[in-house]
Order: sequence, then structure tokens, then C-alpha cells
Amino acid sequence: MQSPIGSTRTAAVIGNPVRHSLSPPIHNAAFQALDLDWTYVAFDVGPGQAHKALDAMRTLHLGGLSVTMPHKADIAAAVDRLTPEASLLGAVNCVAWEQGELVGHNTDGGGFVASLVAETGRSVRDQRCVVLGAGGAARAVILALSQAGASDVAVLNRTTEKAVAAAALAGPVGRVGKLGDVAGADIVVNATSVGMAGTPTAGMSPVAEEMLSDGQVVADLIYHPLATPLLQSAERRRATCLGGVGMLVHQAARQFELWTTHAAPLTVMHEAAGRAIGANQ
Ligand code: ATR
Repeated sequence: MQSPIGSTRTAAVIGNPVRHSLSPPIHNAAFQALDLDWTYVAFDVGPGQAHKALDAMRTLHLGGLSVTMPHKADIAAAVDRLTPEASLLGAVNCVAWEQGELVGHNTDGGGFVASLVAETGRSVRDQRCVVLGAGGAARAVILALSQAGASDVAVLNRTTEKAVAAAALAGPVGRVGKLGDVAGADIVVNATSVGMAGTPTAGMSPVAEEMLSDGQVVADLIYHPLATPLLQSAERRRATCLGGVGMLVHQAARQFELWTTHAAPLTVMHEAAGRAIGANQ
């Protein structure tokens, strides 16, 4: 788009490392598709420096900020205001302007539930859920599942204390679970790094295949590889599979909408994510 000099709005992601972030191609594809005079760049910001990035956002009038590791908690402490979700999670993945204030959002959990509904056609209401993991991504998913009406959210994690804290986010429907809960669950979500390429657990599944069955939705937040060992097992057991790209796209779509107030072009963003993942792998 041809635009007057100086009118382009800039959004950015801060992280460390940030070089392989998929957010720039996803957001830039969306800006282009809607012919918006916006651009999106990645800034490598060292640990402990996130508050300076927020000052820069104010000074440079950045239109939006995405926040990734290791800055989500620091930004939560530095924004003018938090949404209820970001406050409960103590983590911000998106900063947007609202009436001159910088508001910290967390779009991860909402993005996960939106991708589940969009890609499987299933609702979360009254569903029994098992979440594997209790890190940042797991906590966002646990909160969102409970807010979407899950009847039970069982949290399984290698480190029990973290499972206790994460399960509490789901309120009365949250509890620390055990492996035996997987077979009886309607929705199983892997939010651990088990099975991720390039880690010591590459090629491994966090649960035994026999625990999975048709009728279940089995989701993996990992998208490298796309067909994780867990999803391959789920496929063989005829469960409904949900890969990690959907959450990536939907959490980005929510950010895009907060910044631009335009409906996000989901298909375009999905295709851009697919191309970027292919290029990275
Ligand atoms: P993210 O931001 O992606 O959620 P994280 O906060 O580092 O990443 O969380 C990683 C999750 O994967 C944690 O639940 C972690 O378990 P611990 O809390 O016990 O550390 C889990 N995890 C990582 N490696 C694991 C492994 N080899 N076996 C089981 N769980 C593992």
C-alpha cells in the first residue's frame, strides 16, 4: 500500500531469543491482506529490560506489542492496567492501547479454546479435561477451559507444586489429576514440551497410546513437529486431533483485533503460519 511518509503504524514482538518468532510473518500477512498501513517487527530484548521496551512503546507510539519469553511476567508488572485473565495468570502476551493507557492482555488461553471450537466443532462446556503441564502455556489453557464451562480440569505435571498452583486457576472445577484421568477425559491437552523436536524428549509421547480413544479431542500445543508423537497416537486411536498451529494463529488473531479493531483474516494468518513453520523446519 502506498502511504504518506510517517503514517505507517508499527507493532512488534519482544523476546529473548526472538529470531525464530512466527509472529512477524503471521501479522504482516494479515496487515497486507486487509491493506492496512501497518508493519510488524521483532526486537530482541534482554532479560530484565522489558520495562524499557514498554517505555519505548510509549515514546515511539507503537501500535501494539506482543510479548514472549522471558518477559511475560515483567510486562504484567509494568503495564498501566491488566485484563482479569492477565491478572490471574500474572503473564501478558499482548499490550494494547486503551484510552491512552497500556493494557496487558493474555490471549493464549482464549486462542486455544477458539482454535478448538473452530477446528473440531466441539464445545468445551461440561467437558472433562486433562491438561498435561503447569507452565505458562498450560496455565493459560487451564484458566480458559474453566472459563469456557469445562466440568472438570485435571492438571498433571512432573512438578506437583506447580500442578497445585495451576489447577487453582480453574477454581472449583480444577484439581491435580493422575495419569488414570486421561482415559476418562473428553479433552486431553499436552502443554508440556514432551515430544518437541530438538529436545531430549523428541519422539516421545507424554501418555501411553492405550489411554486415548475415539470420542476424545486430543490437542498438542507443540507445532514442531506438526504431527507430534501424541497426535500420531491419537490418530491411530481415532481421536479428534488438534495441532498447535491453531492456538498460535488464534492468539495472534486476538492481538491483531485488539490493535487494529479489524476482524482478523484467519485463513491468511493460518497459511502464513504454515509457510513460516515450513521454512523454519
Ligand atoms: P511454556 O511457556 O511453553 O508453558 P514452561 O513454562 O517452561 O513452558 O513449561 C514447560 C512444561 O513442560 C512444564 O509443565 C514442565 O514440567 P515442570 O513444571 O515439572 O518443569 C513440562 N516439562 C518439560 N520437560 C518435561 C519432561 N521431560 N517431562 C515432563 N514434563 C516436562
